[in-house]
Amino acid sequence: MEPGPVDFAHPAVRAALQRDLLAWFDASARDLPWRRRRSLYGTWISEMMLQQTTVATVVPYWERFLARFPDVAALAAAPEDDVLAHWSGLGYYRRARHLHAAARQVVDTLGGRLPEDVEGWRRLPGIGPYAAGAIASLGLGLPEPAVDANVRRVLARWLGTTGGDAPAAEVARLARALVPADRPGVWNEALMELGALVCPARQPLCASCPVAPHCRTGKTGAVAMASSPAPGQASVPVAVLLAVIRSGSRVWLEVPGQRLLPCRVPAEVAREELSGLHQGLLTLPTTAWYLRPAKGTLDLLGALEEAWVDAWADGSSMAATLPPKPLGRFRHAITRYRLDVTVAVLDAGPGLVAPPGRDGRWVDLDDASAGNISQLARKALRLIAHGQG
Ligand code: ADE
Repeated sequence: MEPGPVDFAHPAVRAALQRDLLAWFDASARDLPWRRRRSLYGTWISEMMLQQTTVATVVPYWERFLARFPDVAALAAAPEDDVLAHWSGLGYYRRARHLHAAARQVVDTLGGRLPEDVEGWRRLPGIGPYAAGAIASLGLGLPEPAVDANVRRVLARWLGTTGGDAPAAEVARLARALVPADRPGVWNEALMELGALVCPARQPLCASCPVAPHCRTGKTGAVAMASSPAPGQASVPVAVLLAVIRSGSRVWLEVPGQRLLPCRVPAEVAREELSGLHQGLLTLPTTAWYLRPAKGTLDLLGALEEAWVDAWADGSSMAATLPPKPLGRFRHAITRYRLDVTVAVLDAGPGLVAPPGRDGRWVDLDDASAGNISQLARKALRLIAHGQG
């Protein structure tokens, strides 16, 4: 029998869900330095670093950053080079520049006092709705939701909308309705933790989920079909964007496993560990693979984050070449995935140096199509050869 909808509007249902998730988090939260030494400033730094970067990578950076810039005054007073040096290796340097500019704005216009409400945070560079909600709840104890991709996926599953097409307004309403007044920050972190550890996009651990009784998707078993088809089962439709960076007659090809191009698309990541797919072959810079909704397409080019420029532009002449232009699309199958591939081209002008931190090389277009490159990259480069570029 179909289970009935979980009635989140009911206070007793919400209370039971909050109790179960918080009890799990209290018992099993990871011991992270910004949790142990909670401060508004430290929360801000951690949230900026955690965008597009894993917890394990961020931990030592956060420690070093706070030791060198212990408060907003120290950060504002520091030369930009020093701030960037403490960010070096985290990537997406625009985040560091925004952070530094925001610190200076706080000192220059707010007398050095960090904002004490969401609206104040939103006025600072680099702070979007998610970051403002996270900082306000974790750092200030305000009852604000913080919905990032992980949390959106968890809430969509609770609601029973498993695809990448969960109605955004419904998820936003639920996120706000669930924040408990007494422990808003802990609640938001518990949701993030559940998304990261128990309820990832692929192969969620429903059997050991602390809130399984409250989850409509887990009850129907739909999550198994939506997220982890067994071999022989239906293939997985995904969307991906590849970037052709062109410098004169050469294109940039790289060793698989480089940093993914950041993309804010309202869809679940189907696969982000891509290094094993093209063994020994060069390929093009890529976004993660996103689950395609049953209907419609994903606009990956439109959702490509400005931050991707940082991954390329730092130390090179890339910035002058934006924005990337659509080159074409094609279909391609790899293992059980059916890819809808968007190809974007960036003309970088002659003399561009290798992008820092990426392992690859410039290859003449004529040699590229003959060389040891992945099928995926070969198809993408054919779009240029066919005169579409
Ligand atoms: N991702 C974003 N914020 C986080 C936090 N505070 N802890 C763990 N992961 C996070």
